[in-house]
Amino acid sequence: MKVRKAVLPVAGMGTRFLPATKVSPKEMLTVVDKPLVQYAIEEAFAAGIEQVILVNGRGKGVLEDHFDRAPELEESLKSRGKEALLDLVHASTPQPGRVVSVRQMQALGLGHAVLCAREAVGNEPFAILLPDDLMWGEPPVLKQMTEAFETTQRSMLAVMEVPSDQTDKYGILDIMEEGTGGGDGRLSQIRAMVEKPPPGSAPSNLAVMGRYILTPEIFPLLARQGSGAGGEIQLTDAMAALLSEQTIHGFRFQGTRYDCGDKAGWQMANLSLALERDDLRERLLPFLRETLEVWQNNQSSKD
Ligand code: G1P
Repeated sequence: MKVRKAVLPVAGMGTRFLPATKVSPKEMLTVVDKPLVQYAIEEAFAAGIEQVILVNGRGKGVLEDHFDRAPELEESLKSRGKEALLDLVHASTPQPGRVVSVRQMQALGLGHAVLCAREAVGNEPFAILLPDDLMWGEPPVLKQMTEAFETTQRSMLAVMEVPSDQTDKYGILDIMEEGTGGGDGRLSQIRAMVEKPPPGSAPSNLAVMGRYILTPEIFPLLARQGSGAGGEIQLTDAMAALLSEQTIHGFRFQGTRYDCGDKAGWQMANLSLALERDDLRERLLPFLRETLEVWQNNQSSKD
C-alpha cells in the first residue's frame, strides 16, 4: 500500500517560544521567508502525499488561512506585474481538499492529537510530520521514508542520535542489531521505546524525530492509551504497545534536523537555510563574519 495521507499535529501552545507564540501559532514562525507549517506540507507533497490533515486547536485558524486563496493580494500583485511574488502566493494555495483540518478539542498530548485524525485517515497507512522539526534533506526526509515503506510495508520512525544528556526531550529507542530491517542498512528493528527517559536511565541515545509512517493499527491502541510522560497521552507509549503486534523500524534519514520548537535551533535553521540562498548569502556572509569578530573581541577584552 501507498502512503497517501499525512497528519500534522498543530494544536500545541508553543510555550517554549513565548512571547512570540502568545497570539501567533508556533507553526507560523518563519524560517527565512516561509512558515514552518508550509515546509512540512511541502515535504509531505514532495513525498507523494495526496492529503494533509491538520490537527488544529482553538485560536489557530490562521494556519488554515495560510493555505487559502488571498484574492485581494493576488489581484494587487497581478495588476502591478509582480509575477514572481504571485507565484510565491500560489505555492501556498493547494487545490481544495488537499489540506483539510480537524480539531483537537482538548490539549491532551501528541498521541491524542493523532487519534483526533482517525476518521480522516481511515484504514490505511499514514505519515505524521511534526512541523517544529524542520527536516532538510535531498530527497526530502519523508520521501526517503515513503520510498522505504514501499518495500517494507512496516511502520517506521525517523531516528537520530542525540547527546546523552538530552534523552528527556525525546522518544528513545532500544533497537535490535543495526541495519537489520534493510533499506540500505538504514532501517533497524525496534525492541522497545520510552518517552522522555531521564539521562542515565535511557536505553540508548537513539531518538525519534518528528517524522513517522504508521499503520492504522495504532488507532485502537491510542484510544486505550492512558496518560504517560508529562501527564499527556503519548504517541510513543501507543507505539511501544504496537510493538507486540507488529514490527516497527527506526529509519536513519539523510539530512539535517533543526529543532525549531527551540529558540537556538530555530536561529540555526534561519542562518543555515539563508546561507543556502543565492539571493541572501552575499550580504549575510560578511555580516556574520564581522559580527562574530566583534563579539570575539568583546569577549577577549572582558577576560
Ligand atoms: C515529540 C515526541 C517525541 C519525539 C519528539 C521529536 O516530543 O513526543 O517522542 O522524540 O517530538 O521532536 P515533543 O517535542 O512534542 O515534546
